[in-house]
Amino acid sequence: MPLTGPKEMFARAYKEGYAVGAFNVNNMEIVQGIMMAGTEEKAPLILQVSAGARKYAGQKYIVKLVEAALADTDLPVVLHLDHGPDFELCKACIDGGFTSVMIDGSHLPFEENIKVTKQVVDYAHDKGIWVEGELGRLAGVEEHVSSDKSIYTDPDQAVEFVQRTGCDSLAIAIGTSHGAYKFTGEAKLDFQRLEKIGNLLPGYPIVLHGASSVPQEFVDLANKYGAKVGGAKGVPEDLLRKAAGMAVCKINIDTDIRLAMTATIRQYFAEHPEEFDPRSYLKPAREAVKKMVQHKIKNVLGCSGKA
Ligand code: G3H
Ligand code: 13P
Ligand code: ZN
Repeated sequence: MPLTGPKEMFARAYKEGYAVGAFNVNNMEIVQGIMMAGTEEKAPLILQVSAGARKYAGQKYIVKLVEAALADTDLPVVLHLDHGPDFELCKACIDGGFTSVMIDGSHLPFEENIKVTKQVVDYAHDKGIWVEGELGRLAGVEEHVSSDKSIYTDPDQAVEFVQRTGCDSLAIAIGTSHGAYKFTGEAKLDFQRLEKIGNLLPGYPIVLHGASSVPQEFVDLANKYGAKVGGAKGVPEDLLRKAAGMAVCKINIDTDIRLAMTATIRQYFAEHPEEFDPRSYLKPAREAVKKMVQHKIKNVLGCSGKA
């Protein structure tokens, strides 16, 4: 089955009160682990590629990998650019076969964010490609945006942003952040704000970035085998489930994949010091990604059986 766009996926997710998982991919084992989970759960999938992942793997490799993953399945899969930093990169991904792109102007002043987002929308829509914009700022670190303070999305500005840019979905800031250290105190999300945005933009798909849960079992396992991941805290799964039942149709997960793989590989190295065949440790790492993604689909996102 060829790659698909997110339009129908999100329309159904919105109507039926679940979210589609957007999982970051960087290499073959990650793509395979996610695909295995989606196939077993009959769940729609979004495979997303950051600018850093594109640089690491190469655009042609990553597109071909995803195309190869789709060769023998009829699972609906979107190939999405995560945090596109500028028009040029969005254009390169659209021209290279992506079916959805994000232009992340969240670090820019409002008018500049509108300008660059609209520029991408004009180019993308001409080719039938979906565009995700972002308004508000998440704390944490991505490749091109780093912030130690979050600025929550203003609901009225969100409406103006969507109307003036024509972007198809909007990433908002309501308390999540990127990486493994999301909360120092109690973990909470601003559901009132989400509800207000949802009411002002009825039927419109909202995106939640920074939505890893940082499962304690992976942190403990990694630390047991030499990692130093102290004080890590993610978004509790029940809060994600609640958001998925509201206007949130896409939930982004990267850190949990990193933790699952790294904890598994650390354990493998410690228990098999004589091994040096990469297949021996990448295989259980791929299995760990599959298991983790399957759990998200079934128990957090609610999109099992929705393919
Ligand atoms: O939001 C950021 C994603 O986790 C991608 O991270 O830029 O290190 O690939 P990256
Ligand atoms: P996490 O760091 O919480 O996995 O967020 C990933 C993300 O938002 C990718 O865009
Ligand atoms: Zn993100």
